[in-house]
Amino acid sequence: MTESDAIDATVLSGRAMLAGVVGWPVSHSRSPRLHGFWLRHHRIDGAYLPLPVRPDSLAAALRALPLLGFKGANVTVPHKEAALAIVDRASAAARRIGALNTIVVGADGTLEGQNTDGFGFRENLRAHQPDWTPTAGPAVLLGAGGAARAIAVALLEEGVSEIRLVNRTADRAERLAREINGPFQIHRWADRGAALAEAGLLVNTTTLGMTGQPPLDLDLAALPTDAVVNDIVYAPLETPLLAAARARGNPVVDGVGMLLHQARPGFAAWYGVEPEVTPALRAFVLRDL
Ligand code: ATR
Repeated sequence: MTESDAIDATVLSGRAMLAGVVGWPVSHSRSPRLHGFWLRHHRIDGAYLPLPVRPDSLAAALRALPLLGFKGANVTVPHKEAALAIVDRASAAARRIGALNTIVVGADGTLEGQNTDGFGFRENLRAHQPDWTPTAGPAVLLGAGGAARAIAVALLEEGVSEIRLVNRTADRAERLAREINGPFQIHRWADRGAALAEAGLLVNTTTLGMTGQPPLDLDLAALPTDAVVNDIVYAPLETPLLAAARARGNPVVDGVGMLLHQARPGFAAWYGVEPEVTPALRAFVLRDL
């Protein structure tokens, strides 16, 4: 490759397609690196930018996306719920979850909100544990935040017939069950070990076990050894929960794949190419953690 070929591969033209991630702060987001990998891999004339937007400027910033020629954006903390009230339309999943993470600008300049976190969860589970089925047994969700809401909706769409919600703050689990409406059972945080009996899937959506956070104190004794264990924490990649589950023979799924897969629908909508989650992408994003 000549020097000018190398420059051509990285310099934008006046027709470059633009997208980005709106958050506050946004400096910790891995999305620019993730989308940047795919843009370069596919040699697309486009850019994906970090867009730091204060909460009081969210509506003005999102409304500016079509005015600036953006194809769309991802939306991250703390804006995922507020953005849902700003967009012109939202997918059924985004409305049911009560939050969005992806905006697509339509040809007419309107904003469509989507939530691809549940898609990311499901695709990651399918990629790593293709034998898991919704009939394997009750699913246990630890946590009741935004990630738990997206995963609960994904599990209901899959046809799971019982979801056990276990959260430190019971009110929040009750609100999730009321708003999402499904076959939920609420278990007390103190009874989290007993809630694992007969389960076919265990997902940690809390921040416990993440670098810098307290450990997840959970006795796995009651969990069937064929239950799939998924931790959505990906720093560290092998959390103590995954290590303990693996040691007793449970099939495990780590969390970084959900981050990678949730990005696919946005990239496809903005840049017109279906991107793939490959070992090279995974290694590239993990190198930044
Ligand atoms: P996200 O939107 O990414 O899911 P979140 O809304 O901050 O993040 O949710 C974090 C989850 O981790 C919550 O379920 C929280 O429990 P509470 O609803 O009781 O706050 C859970 N969590 C965080 N720290 C915890 C701790 N020390 N013990 C138990 N649960 C904890």
